Amino acid sequence: MHARDHFQAQPSDIFLCSPLKTGCTWLKALSFSIATRTQFDNSTSPLQKWVPHDCIPFLEHGEYSTAPGPRIPLFATHLQYTCLPKSIIDSGCKIVYICRDPKDTFVSMWHFFQRITKCNSKQELGEGDLIPIEVAFEFFCKGMSYYGPYWEHVLGYWKASLERPDKILFLKYEDMKRNTEVCVMKLAEFFGCPFSLEEEREGTVQKIIESCSFEILSNPEVNKMGKLVRKNRFVENNAYFRKGKVGDWRNYLTAEMGMRLDDIMEEKLSGSGLTFHISPQE
Ligand code: A3P
Repeated sequence: MHARDHFQAQPSDIFLCSPLKTGCTWLKALSFSIATRTQFDNSTSPLQKWVPHDCIPFLEHGEYSTAPGPRIPLFATHLQYTCLPKSIIDSGCKIVYICRDPKDTFVSMWHFFQRITKCNSKQELGEGDLIPIEVAFEFFCKGMSYYGPYWEHVLGYWKASLERPDKILFLKYEDMKRNTEVCVMKLAEFFGCPFSLEEEREGTVQKIIESCSFEILSNPEVNKMGKLVRKNRFVENNAYFRKGKVGDWRNYLTAEMGMRLDDIMEEKLSGSGLTFHISPQE
């Protein structure tokens, strides 16, 4: 609400939008690296000192006025498309949206909130004090989730991307994992700063991909030991880097639970042209 009342987007601003736990940390790191590649190399990049969330501010936390680091026209948000500040749409800002197989998203979210609950609790919590995965799953299937039902979130941006493909780039985490290079090239082009032939020859694309890979990005001290403090709560930065795998849901949900969520998504997305079918090997 604060952002809707006070944030004035500029036409050159670019927004990285996502539901929770769909790869926004990775997308931020890649986008930041692409946008600042002529200013920094690996050793001087602010990503060595700051968690990606401190490099690209979140709209809904009102961080845009206080974010450290170089001023770049990149912002992030988990808000649904219909909740974005009006000036973002009116100014014709570009938007990159990332989403992910809902089963992996749910499992990632459940782990994340377990971590947050444990580290912010005043007393020692045991497993029994935390919300069991089966209960959380019921909530998720009923659409009770942060920033609204998952299917509404993805559908809002999906439909908008079909209406305005020049302004909204729609990405899936699984595609980024499968073919990071294509996605990075697409991002650079979409941002209006495509890689030159010389950069391609020098391996700039590969260097960016490497420096933002799960293994490398999770390694700096700030991402291993640092904390992101928000009002009276905090998140340990390493909670943003759990496994980074496709299909990890199989280790936490039964096949029946997986099918149930697939069926819900199929019904909710029917007729939209959007699917989340993942091949069994992934
Ligand atoms: P898992 O919990 O499945 O491991 P978000 O950044 O939107 O909070 O999403 C978090 C998910 O992205 C986590 O998934 C996390 O491990 C994964 N992730 C973080 N950094 C990544 C990277 N560099 N490459 C691939 N996945 C990454």
